[in-house]
Amino acid sequence: MTEPDAIRPVILVVDDNAENRALALATLEDDYRVVMAANGEEALRSVAAESPECVVLDVNMPGMNGFEVCAQIRALSGHEQTPVVFLTALRDVETFDAALRAGGDDFLTKPVRPTELVLRVQAALRVGRLNAANREYYELARRQRDDLMRLQLQKERLTAFVVHDLKNPVGVVDLHAQVLLRDKELSPRARASATAIREEVRSLLRLIMNLLDISKSEEGKLVPAVTELSFATLAAEVMETASVAARAKGVTLKSELGAASVRADPDLLRRVLENLLDNALRHAPEDSAITLSSSEREGQFEARIADEGGGVPAEMRERIFDPFVQVESTDRSVTRSGRGLGLAFCRLAVEAHGGRLWVEEGRPGAVFCMRLPHG
Ligand SMILES: Nc1ncnc2c1ncn2[C@@H]1O[C@H](COP(=O)(O)OP(=O)(O)OP(=O)(O)O)[C@@H](O)[C@H]1O
Ligand SMILES: [Mg+2]
Repeated sequence: MTEPDAIRPVILVVDDNAENRALALATLEDDYRVVMAANGEEALRSVAAESPECVVLDVNMPGMNGFEVCAQIRALSGHEQTPVVFLTALRDVETFDAALRAGGDDFLTKPVRPTELVLRVQAALRVGRLNAANREYYELARRQRDDLMRLQLQKERLTAFVVHDLKNPVGVVDLHAQVLLRDKELSPRARASATAIREEVRSLLRLIMNLLDISKSEEGKLVPAVTELSFATLAAEVMETASVAARAKGVTLKSELGAASVRADPDLLRRVLENLLDNALRHAPEDSAITLSSSEREGQFEARIADEGGGVPAEMRERIFDPFVQVESTDRSVTRSGRGLGLAFCRLAVEAHGGRLWVEEGRPGAVFCMRLPHG
């Protein structure tokens, strides 16, 4: 039940973007009296007039930015400790440090999920109501949290650098292997080596791109560039690339394409298919078949990749989509796999399209199913 205005805590939301303000209002208005400001000057007037118990403050605003507004709120008598939760577009160490220096209590990266905003506001309100003794404990815990957060942000940056800087040299290695393969005089042994280099490079690049996109998705930056594209062409290309590995294992690649076109980001969809096909190949027994099919289901595009391997145990069918989760295999024919990032990437990429990805039992084998909306 909504409480009368007089007892509901007042939350001040400061954002120059009207849409963001509306979103914050819709998220918070059931439990709080929400006051809004579109810029720093308005915010300072509201703080003086309404004495909010918590301020949700956008960082990037024309005129006074969020950091300056926070510093000025802190200078107002009675508001030295009013909790301030910053909303920032950037998730990096510099922004975090600037937020702390300005006197902020918490830090959320956009796009902000409504449940996250509610939780952070609740936490900020509890902090605002602490007595002096408890505040001391809180400050200690907070300093530790800040150190951990800083480390975490530095680690994220390092990963992004490593991954990004690996991509180019690995691409160059592949180019050189291609140049070698074009040499008609190349001995069969050298040719086999160059082919092996290309295979390894492909799997390394797949790993790098998976990592890169998983971290992009964590920052809310995995946005698909959707176009109408030929699934038939894409499927043929992906199967052609996998054909060397398939031949080596005696596996036949089949396709049954009922739906020939789809609306998707070509690069992301290609890499989803590459990952699923790579997994299927790894688990497929010798002389078996892998089938890629597509169809229209309930007004959506559906693709399925079915192999005849050991399948995924029922209790693991959700967990395998989490990063770093791999199922222990007792089957010696299953070749050693990577890091357990492939399916995590695939699910994030499919969900970024508003679609769904899951696994079913194939009797025998695993069937990975993907639905993508047409809209
Ligand atoms: N077609 C399949 N048949 C049986 N098990 C599968 C299949 N595809 C995936 N799995 C299981 O799900 C786990 C996670 O797959 P995922 O693609 O995320 O990681 P990976 O293939 O082990 O490593 P990476 O993709 O990072 O190289 C695999 O380790 C495997 O245990
Ligand atoms: Mg994989």
